[in-house]
Amino acid sequence: MSDASGKVIPLQMVDDVRDQLQRPVRDLRLSVIETCNFRCPYCMPEEAFPYGAAESSAFRLSFDQLETVVRAFVRLGVSKLRLTGGEPLLRKGLPDFIRRLSSIDGIEDLAITTNASLLARQASALREAGLHRLTISLDSLDPERFAALSGGRGKLTDVLAGIEAAEDAGFERIKFNCVVQRGINEDDVLPLVERFRGSGHVLRFIEFMDVGTCNRWSRERVVPSGELLRRIGERWPLQALQPNYRGEVAERYAFDDGQGEIGFISSVSAPFCGDCQRARVSADGQLFTCLFASSGHDLRALIDAGEDVLADALAAIWRQRSDRYSERRAEVGEAEHVEMFRIGG
Ligand code: GTP
Ligand code: 5AD
Ligand code: SF4
Ligand code: SF4
Repeated sequence: MSDASGKVIPLQMVDDVRDQLQRPVRDLRLSVIETCNFRCPYCMPEEAFPYGAAESSAFRLSFDQLETVVRAFVRLGVSKLRLTGGEPLLRKGLPDFIRRLSSIDGIEDLAITTNASLLARQASALREAGLHRLTISLDSLDPERFAALSGGRGKLTDVLAGIEAAEDAGFERIKFNCVVQRGINEDDVLPLVERFRGSGHVLRFIEFMDVGTCNRWSRERVVPSGELLRRIGERWPLQALQPNYRGEVAERYAFDDGQGEIGFISSVSAPFCGDCQRARVSADGQLFTCLFASSGHDLRALIDAGEDVLADALAAIWRQRSDRYSERRAEVGEAEHVEMFRIGG
């Protein structure tokens, strides 16, 4: 940051912000929109959220307000920023907003999680705006199953066109997220591995999680990562890799034959709360300190009070934090959780 005369003003950091379990905050997941054009049954099922029903965007934060949130979090130590939704590419003017974010001192990594249905049209604008990385949700390569898994809303061909456009725009090492459900898309696993091996991209399998309130989660529908690892490893031998950074969510494995890597996100069978450095803010300005939180902290008045006030308030909230839901899943039992599409995973 610099003042009118061009003199560099040092970033006003808030000193050593750690939560009750000594975890810093490094990673902000910011939702830019509260809705989606898909209705994946494990996230935003149509019967609970009918498509086209009046959706309220009245409380959606403006880009100015969202930028204030990011700048305040940077003062607490955040250097990784991921934009999420719902489906973030539905938000009008996103490339301009990304341009603003990419010029913030302290943001070293700027990524987005998308279903890629609208990516074909936007990939080059996102790249030019300064977006570093893309993560694409992809649960099947079979057109009919893909359609069913998006609640009848998505077309595989759109997503494949989006991937091609992203590659053409220069995005490398795209991450693909596949949520695996027992008896639903287990047999998509090997074809997905085959498709992305050697592509330079990174496929990750996510254990089906008990997020939200309405996805009828049951442990029987979870396919433990260990089982997938064995099945994939029988066909293409794998070896474990070290994490890229402390607190990385996915466990990484490399193909023995040099055809790249895959990852497993095992929040059910091997929780990773101990290193959780992630904060989530919904599009209506609620801060959630855990993916499974039942309620958030309303930031709107604090945002309007400005970056200094907001940064102090965020630090106070973070210092109180003691969440570790995935590690306590068995003791907690059934609980109300924020909907996944409000905080984008
Ligand atoms: P990078 O390493 O920055 O690429 O991101 P990532 O590995 O965190 O990837 P991504 O943001 O795509 O997260 C993948 C998925 O992991 C999310 O969609 C969630 O389903 C799950 N996940 C991410 N963070 C958490 C977390 O803190 N807790 C739990 N339980 N699951 C998480
Ligand atoms: N379990 C695991 N992952 C989920 N996602 C959405 N709902 C669930 C769930 N119940 C994932 C999506 C996407 C990301 C935003 O979160 O597949 O990759
Ligand atoms: Fe599906 Fe992602 Fe939309 Fe949820 S936010 S309904 S997981 S595409
Ligand atoms: Fe972090 Fe909550 Fe996920 Fe644990 S369950 S890793 S505390 S977001």
